[in-house]
Amino acid sequence: MALLIDGKKISAEIKDELKEIVAKKKAEGKEITLAVIQVGNDKASSVYVGNKKKACEYIGVNSLAYELPEETTEEELLSIVKELNERSDVHGILVQLPLPKHICEDKVLLAINPDKDVDGFHPVSVGRLWIGEEGYESCTPAGVIQLLKRSGIEIAGKECVVIGRSNIVGKPMAAMLLRENGTVTVCHSRTKNLAEVTKRADILVVAIGKPKFITAEYVKEGAVVIDVGIHRNEDNKLCGDVDFDSVEPIASAITPVPGGVGPMTIAMLMCNVVKSNA
Ligand code: GUN
Repeated sequence: MALLIDGKKISAEIKDELKEIVAKKKAEGKEITLAVIQVGNDKASSVYVGNKKKACEYIGVNSLAYELPEETTEEELLSIVKELNERSDVHGILVQLPLPKHICEDKVLLAINPDKDVDGFHPVSVGRLWIGEEGYESCTPAGVIQLLKRSGIEIAGKECVVIGRSNIVGKPMAAMLLRENGTVTVCHSRTKNLAEVTKRADILVVAIGKPKFITAEYVKEGAVVIDVGIHRNEDNKLCGDVDFDSVEPIASAITPVPGGVGPMTIAMLMCNVVKSNA
């Protein structure tokens, strides 16, 4: 039976560690403030933003909420970002994605001061990650690294296969596994003989965006399988990109959905927030 990697427990441990660090900073008179901007009222975004605010409250960080109407112009949003960049009492800035279609996301992300870029999406943060400089890291892949480390899973020297090449998960995941001295392969929609490649993996990270796509035929006996996907199946139940029932019997360790990678994203965001007023 595979080790079940408990993201709920590990994320709670991380938040408790951060809570202590924040309390110590407060005792030294150092407050931390995160500005969270949401444009429009996309339902999923409202849930994510609500959870981020709750996590701030839990660890003792101030959150400054900007709930802007759907009609907000790009210019107005850029002017708010500029003002937040300049405020010395605001340490982190997060613009919830997706933005309405009339606003260019790349332009807005580029406008955030890289020193306040707690999402790790700014090209400067991405560049720092790839060249091995200290900086903010994309939260979901950083969460995957923490899940592996805190479960005692060695990355160095392992065959690591990432399925998915998004800027938020796949690409930074590859950079982080490489930094940990894994041998990294990135697969995507144009990869030929996908199962042949994924079967090489000692550590398989799946961020393909297709419910229950990865079955036992894609997985080597004894592999560690990390599922970044989250979907609702026909019974309205949550499931991942990995067919858990098929893969779990042959994996050595696996993340469940829910309760695997999901809770780690906010925990790692909180790590970045605490770092923003180091
Ligand atoms: N939308 C979905 N996930 C994220 C995230 O991690 N950060 C931001 N800013 N927006 C998102």
